[in-house]
Amino acid sequence: MHALPEQSTALIRLSDYRAPAWRVETVELDFDLGIDASELSARLLLRRDPSQNAPLRLDGENLQLLSIALDGRQLPATAYRYAGNGLEVDGARDGSVLETRVRLRPAANTALEGLYLSGSREAGFLLTQCEAEGFRHITFFTDRPDVQSRYSVTLRADRARFPVLLAGGNPDGSGELEGGRHWARFVDPHPKPSYLFALVAGRLEKIERDYVTAEGRAVQLKIWAEADAIDRCHYAMDALERSMRWDEQAYGRNYDLDVFHVVATHDFNMGAMENKGLNIFNAKCLLADPDSTTDDEYRHVEAVVAHEYFHNWSGNRVTCRDWFQLSLKEGLTVFREQSFSADMNSAPLKRIEDVSLLRRAQFPEDAGPLAHPVRPAQYSEINNFYTATVYEKGAELVRMLAGALGKNGFRRGMDRYFERNDGRAATLENFLAALGDANGTDLTPYLAWYGQAGTPRLSARGRHDAARHEYTLTLAQHVAGPESRPPLPIPVKLALFTHHGDMLPLHLDGQTSKSPNELVVALTQAEQDFVFTDVVTAPVPSLLRGFSAPVILECEYTPDELALLLAHDVDGFNRWEAGQQLAARAYENLRDDTSADALHAWCEALASLFDNPSIDDALLADLLTPPGEVELAERETAIDPQRIHQLRQDLQQRLAERLGADALHRRYQALAAHTSIELDALSQARRRLKRRALELLYLLDSPEACRLAAAQYRSAPGMTDRLAALTVLVRGNATQASAALLDYRERYADNALALDKWFAVQAQLPGEPALERVLLLERDAAFTLKNPNRVQALLGAFVRGNPSGFHRIDGAGYRLLAERLTKLDTLNPQVAARLATAFNGWQRLEPLRREAARAAIVELARHDGLSRNLTEIIGSVLN
Ligand code: ARG
Ligand code: ZN
Repeated sequence: MHALPEQSTALIRLSDYRAPAWRVETVELDFDLGIDASELSARLLLRRDPSQNAPLRLDGENLQLLSIALDGRQLPATAYRYAGNGLEVDGARDGSVLETRVRLRPAANTALEGLYLSGSREAGFLLTQCEAEGFRHITFFTDRPDVQSRYSVTLRADRARFPVLLAGGNPDGSGELEGGRHWARFVDPHPKPSYLFALVAGRLEKIERDYVTAEGRAVQLKIWAEADAIDRCHYAMDALERSMRWDEQAYGRNYDLDVFHVVATHDFNMGAMENKGLNIFNAKCLLADPDSTTDDEYRHVEAVVAHEYFHNWSGNRVTCRDWFQLSLKEGLTVFREQSFSADMNSAPLKRIEDVSLLRRAQFPEDAGPLAHPVRPAQYSEINNFYTATVYEKGAELVRMLAGALGKNGFRRGMDRYFERNDGRAATLENFLAALGDANGTDLTPYLAWYGQAGTPRLSARGRHDAARHEYTLTLAQHVAGPESRPPLPIPVKLALFTHHGDMLPLHLDGQTSKSPNELVVALTQAEQDFVFTDVVTAPVPSLLRGFSAPVILECEYTPDELALLLAHDVDGFNRWEAGQQLAARAYENLRDDTSADALHAWCEALASLFDNPSIDDALLADLLTPPGEVELAERETAIDPQRIHQLRQDLQQRLAERLGADALHRRYQALAAHTSIELDALSQARRRLKRRALELLYLLDSPEACRLAAAQYRSAPGMTDRLAALTVLVRGNATQASAALLDYRERYADNALALDKWFAVQAQLPGEPALERVLLLERDAAFTLKNPNRVQALLGAFVRGNPSGFHRIDGAGYRLLAERLTKLDTLNPQVAARLATAFNGWQRLEPLRREAARAAIVELARHDGLSRNLTEIIGSVLN
């Protein structure tokens, strides 16, 4: 019997949650692996919840059922039903053993969910991806995270074709079989949900390191990759060791198996996956070497390695009761990963990077038809909910909780959380209760943050009473949506500055600030006054320091006040933030052709920072960068992305003029004198500022900047400098661009990750020419819709990373996306659905583009046989 996948778009609701009627206590899997066909026998020991009277029903999709037996007896066809996506079996009792054998077709699996082939039939290897609901594509199972089972896995395969056989858990024997075959067994002592199952089989090389945990457990760390990539795994190994140490020190969490495997694949839908004892990574989040990896990518590799490792506790030891709780593991783990990266690198720069991402990816999501709470109330396809809201906003919520409890209190709370929930499938309520109970405080008001979509607005007004030496700060919150919403707890970290740029000691309700003279006030009502005493002259408030809550701050600063904070705020994040606010106002000066007060203040403040030797080069580079096109669009209605691009260019040109070609040139040359490829903070910072100086110089003297860029491209000691130079040449349409592109294409012909950047750079050509270029690049021999990274590099970079190119007024960009989605959807629904979110926000485009986008989406929606993934996204976007 062969089941057809069912395209049900029925909504799954949080409010319908029921504990499982059946559990699987132990599961024994026995695989016969092959590229075209793999077969697998599964033996499940079943447990029934005596309080429920439901028949046995197991998930299972696209499985070719070869045999089925219950308690040792083959079942007649009348005793079970397999249609659509579920298997129903009659006669099962508590303690029954169900045995099934199924056939899978890995090489034909282009969706990259379940068991699939990475690479070519001849040289590639087999692997699995199960989160969220991939295990049901491998065998019949209660495929839900609140069913935790003990796994024993045996893999059998031809030794020459599959010399390496890996599964999660500890190794438990291996040996030879007849006919050149061999076997390996793995037993995982920790009960786990099915989404954490994994196997890998094929020709892989490894690097190894011995590690001893703080508790004294000896662990073998092994990173696996194909032969041509194994030399690029050393950085990840170092990052893994740093992550393990950090989790021991920061959270007291030790690793709990004898081996820890990490595998790199070029064919992966997401970034990486925390399978128990066998993490699997998209190669772009694991491989690194100076010749093909930029500084930003190095930091990303470090962060993702840490993220997946940290999941071993926040995700695996304590997992989610259901997928509505996804942020319980993802928001928490992103927060842990961010804290780790801040400790390993520069904390303020990391905060700037994280908040920029939140604004670029999550705020637009939260402001449009795809908005959903961090804990969604319903979904049709769970894979559509691995979003910036669940991950990034989720991390911001944990950060607020951590801030409210303080360092020691948060650690106490996390200890309590792990202790109480170890081995369990938990909810966000369990999380808040553990944190609160360990600190004798009630955190349930924070639940409101998890239940409502939309970015709250925080308005701030200050009044100074010169006679009483009082400063009253009025804070108020508003969220668009139903009026009945309870107010959110919003922690606002703040400081007050004199007009000379000094911070005032704070006196509030008997509290006095300690150094560095900042306090956190908690807004818990719709509106509240905070009265500071002993304030002699009217101060300038620095609010939401470190971005203490994920809100949009509205405060009527004058340009001079923002310039004061930009010049003097010691909180690196808020200094940058003042600059961003001021730049946005400067942009409005240009757009509305109003008095250029903000433009002037911004340029002057940056000109003096440019000459201030005490500012870190990397922070300076960020200060010299105005908000991106997506963020600027967020502040508008009737969006014209091409005009936004042009205005932002003008804005940067004004800044460049103020700094002057000579100064930029000198700075560039001084920085270019350092040619190290080291990854230390200073070297990275120099490369970052050098790039910024070159980009600004381009706006003043493009021939000279292109000459420098072409030379930099040729002599670059590493990818950071090479890609920066190439980008300047390509975006600037320089005459030197085609030679550099040709050189790059040849140089990296065999390096997929480097080649991705070649596609992406060109897909981001500004304005009308981008589309032609994309069409041309689609015909490159290296382009394929089957590889998610390549799709992301070309189409993703075009529709998401190039607003002025994608949003053509003739609508050709929209039609291209819609057409490619219909093709991509038949291959890989998850990747298609993610790409389709580029249509988000079309309602706020100016009328011509809005109509063109609407027509393209409607046309796409009419297409027959779209996946549930894509159907759900299009349906929401059209709303
Ligand atoms: N849990 C993975 C992470 O660390 C993400 C896997 C999601 N995969 C998917 N197909 N939805 O973030
Ligand atoms: Zn994760």
